[in-house]
Amino acid sequence: MKKRIYRILAVLTAACLLLAASGAGAAKAENELWWKNTIAYEIYVRSFRDTNGDGIGDLKGITQSLDYLKELGAGALWLTPCYASPQEDNGYDIANFYEIDPVYGTMADMDELIREAGKRGIRIVMDLVFNHTSDANPWFVESRAGRNNEKSDWYIWRDPGEDGGAPTNWRSIFGGSAWEYDPIRGQYYLHTFLKQQPDLNWENPEVRKALIDVANFWVNKGVGGFRLDAITYIKKPAVFENGRPDADDRLSGIHALTADTPGILDFLREFQEGVTPGTDIFMVGEANGVAPEELPEWVGGDGVMDMIFEISHVLIDLPDEMNWCKTREWKIPELKKMFSASQEMTRSTKGWVPVFLENHDQPRSINHFLPEGADRVAGGKALGTLLLTMRGTPFIMQGEELGLVNVAWESIDEYKDVSTFNHYWFALGEGYTQEEAMAAVHRFSRDNARTPLQWTDGENAGFTTGTPWIPVNEDYKTFNAASEKADPDSVLNWYITLAKLRSEHEELLDGDYRELFPEHEQIFAYERENETAKAVILINLTTEPAAYDPACLEGAELLLSSAKETEKGTLAPLEAVIYEAPAGKQ
Ligand code: NOJ
Ligand code: CA
Repeated sequence: MKKRIYRILAVLTAACLLLAASGAGAAKAENELWWKNTIAYEIYVRSFRDTNGDGIGDLKGITQSLDYLKELGAGALWLTPCYASPQEDNGYDIANFYEIDPVYGTMADMDELIREAGKRGIRIVMDLVFNHTSDANPWFVESRAGRNNEKSDWYIWRDPGEDGGAPTNWRSIFGGSAWEYDPIRGQYYLHTFLKQQPDLNWENPEVRKALIDVANFWVNKGVGGFRLDAITYIKKPAVFENGRPDADDRLSGIHALTADTPGILDFLREFQEGVTPGTDIFMVGEANGVAPEELPEWVGGDGVMDMIFEISHVLIDLPDEMNWCKTREWKIPELKKMFSASQEMTRSTKGWVPVFLENHDQPRSINHFLPEGADRVAGGKALGTLLLTMRGTPFIMQGEELGLVNVAWESIDEYKDVSTFNHYWFALGEGYTQEEAMAAVHRFSRDNARTPLQWTDGENAGFTTGTPWIPVNEDYKTFNAASEKADPDSVLNWYITLAKLRSEHEELLDGDYRELFPEHEQIFAYERENETAKAVILINLTTEPAAYDPACLEGAELLLSSAKETEKGTLAPLEAVIYEAPAGKQ
């Protein structure tokens, strides 16, 4: 009962704050789900803003930056995990779901952040890492202590295989066997990621109940939603069998063997029913392994969550996620097709797409999706236009709004990310040279998007007064929030303009999506149309001028162009334009 009252209060407060804050979109917010009309912003807490000089971003740093985020139109802030953790995987190894790690602050700091964000119509989105915990989590400590305690069955334990080794030949996503031997139990435990991240046993109803309790604890604190980490791995096959070896290490990648196992939707439905009724929160899943054609079961009216990150486009150049040296060439029509496929698949079920080009596991989008040597300012605006005008909720990765790019440190020792090391060693093991392995690290390392946010042109880009835990990208003197704010032609001001445009032209929020010229080799073009207006968006993703048939713009007026001058029928290199016509034209 008490919980229900808290929830009703939380919903009412959020609704009032949103109505007060959302200006032009206010009438809409009464009828529609708030998270469909906003922009989400991912904060890699460790690298966002440090307030106590220890070189590590903290919760207070976020609270201090809320006005910056509000100006960007962000209504939902996804925080990467800031719970108590040994930080083996920068917080994706959680030791206590009910505590804030001291390195990021205190629970009082979190309460203050939720409150201050709320005052500005911004909701906090917590990252729930529920496929696994840290091996330092008391749940695991108890589980590994013996075969007959209350938590013995909370993780996935198996006897050694016939040869006395690992029970199967599964390779973890970060490389090496997915099994680790525990001498106390005399058994192996499964870890889809690091050995310090043992997988929880979702088959056990007590585990599922404990996880629902964690989520409800945060709902009652007033958060606006959850991102569910690695959620496609929670259900394991009924029988564990060896997979076909797929590399020289004779192991078989666990992803192909366990992702999206039948039965997973039952777990997720139970979770949804235990958490969301009576709330206005949203849930977005990291769902590697769910194909676009499966989206209707996952999202929309009958879906188990509100949105999932469908990732085919970020893997467009990487056929084998473990092997960063084996890349493939791709063409723009393929990329467009991937975006359009998720749009199509969710439309019929009223599902909703989280639109994203970057996150803390991906390289910077300017490097990832644009030709080498592309002008980064024009390129950042082109990609920003795509991000903020597709149908769905845009997820901006911190720094994307500044047009930040990859780093390329000389030695592997300069990198921090554990998966980068594993990919590097895997490449050497497969016979690639050190140069090839380093080139792959430069291209795909997760550290590319994890460098400190660049606030000013001062020391350490204004991120910290101490020594940053990871080096600042050396381009910070030119590319930083303060300088870009002062420059009307910057990527940052383009994002701010687009965010405003979205709130003033509602077809960009609720309009249908229809792709134009799908075969065009340079331009990504689409319409967004609702009952009153139609926006036509054309983006040249190449460094050459591009021509198109201007008939699609009949009766349309220019709202915005990223080039100095523009005319219907042609686009300058990397130019993005948005036109608007009354609905029903054409
Ligand atoms: C996906 C997260 O985004 C990534 O950063 C993390 O390493 C793995 N899941 C394991 O939790
Ligand atoms: Ca700090």
